[in-house]
Amino acid sequence: MNEIANLFDPGRYEAVRRPLLEADTLPPECYTSEAFYRREVETIFLKVWNFIGREDRIPNPGDYAAFEFVGVPVVIVRDRDGSVRAFANSCRHRGAKVMQGEGNCTVMTCPYHSWTYALDGRLIGAMEMDETDGFDRKNFGLVELRLETWAGFLFLNFDHDAEPLSAWLGDLPDVLASYKLEDMVTTRRVEYDLACNWKIYVENAMESYHVPTVHQQTIQKQKRDHNPPIPASGEYCGLFTRHEGSRALLPGAKGFPYIPDLEGLAAQGTYYVLINPSTMFGLTYDCMWWLELHPVSAGRTKLIVGSCFPKQTVARDDFDALVNNYYERWNKSIVEDNEISDIQQIGISSPFVKPGRFSYMEPLVHTIDNWVLDRVLG
Ligand code: FES
Ligand SMILES: [Fe+2]
Repeated sequence: MNEIANLFDPGRYEAVRRPLLEADTLPPECYTSEAFYRREVETIFLKVWNFIGREDRIPNPGDYAAFEFVGVPVVIVRDRDGSVRAFANSCRHRGAKVMQGEGNCTVMTCPYHSWTYALDGRLIGAMEMDETDGFDRKNFGLVELRLETWAGFLFLNFDHDAEPLSAWLGDLPDVLASYKLEDMVTTRRVEYDLACNWKIYVENAMESYHVPTVHQQTIQKQKRDHNPPIPASGEYCGLFTRHEGSRALLPGAKGFPYIPDLEGLAAQGTYYVLINPSTMFGLTYDCMWWLELHPVSAGRTKLIVGSCFPKQTVARDDFDALVNNYYERWNKSIVEDNEISDIQQIGISSPFVKPGRFSYMEPLVHTIDNWVLDRVLG
């Protein structure tokens, strides 16, 4: 696609800036232009707290996982003292990617010339470097990245000047406190490659307008009401649906006992939360699940779906048998969302597509799109 000359001219987006029921949807090039995507990377993903999963993925000292986030190779590793650290996964010699995949290691060794780093990032081995003038190993440790945790969830920030994670999350930890997320266990983590822009997926997750059509055979059968977005003080937004029975089960499926001592709204239904910019949490009576997005390019996104249950649920004798009822629900409904997102990306990539309008059921789509514009347009 040819790039558009006035892509970042605020006047171009004036119709998106109007109130929901007067507004246009985001122009299609916001989902297809590589220039728009690169600006999102610079102004959003390289600046904010990005959700990267749960720390029980690497429970033991030496456990590590390497991945790319918006094109940046990253490795997370559990140090001997139990802390989880994140490093730029690029060797300080000539830049090779040091760690591949995931596993356990005692040291991190570069596959190119075997420079070796301790779990805290210090360079502890570099052969044949004795004759190199003024070379001091202590100046060549892996570059450490900011990593903070909340209730076992990991957040990465590439910006050393960013406010702490607690400022980003605002009152969300209090709102969700009675789920006792810190006592949950990740029981499954599934990756999907999506052929769509990251915003297409986020928008889908935060509106229920599509449910009767896309999820006709699955979660449409769950009773739903339409509520305004929940009040949020922090970099998040969300919907709450009041209902009975776990939302993580298909109708009629047998499930686990509820999380003890849920309080307030948590005891009355399900929260669907978006932690800006691209992490969705579903929290219902008996479990939580997350949708984690790793944008790859304008038209490609990696999706990771995690499932978490309370420790005491995972310890039950019938856990393995019953948990499949939950996995079946996610396997079905998430693939339905994946497929419609890929279909939307194909359609929105046409030169003939024009901005549309919103229903009253899509307030958060409008909110998210304007949040993106606030940052991208500066
Ligand atoms: S690039 Fe890593 S040791 Fe040479
Ligand atoms: Fe959906």
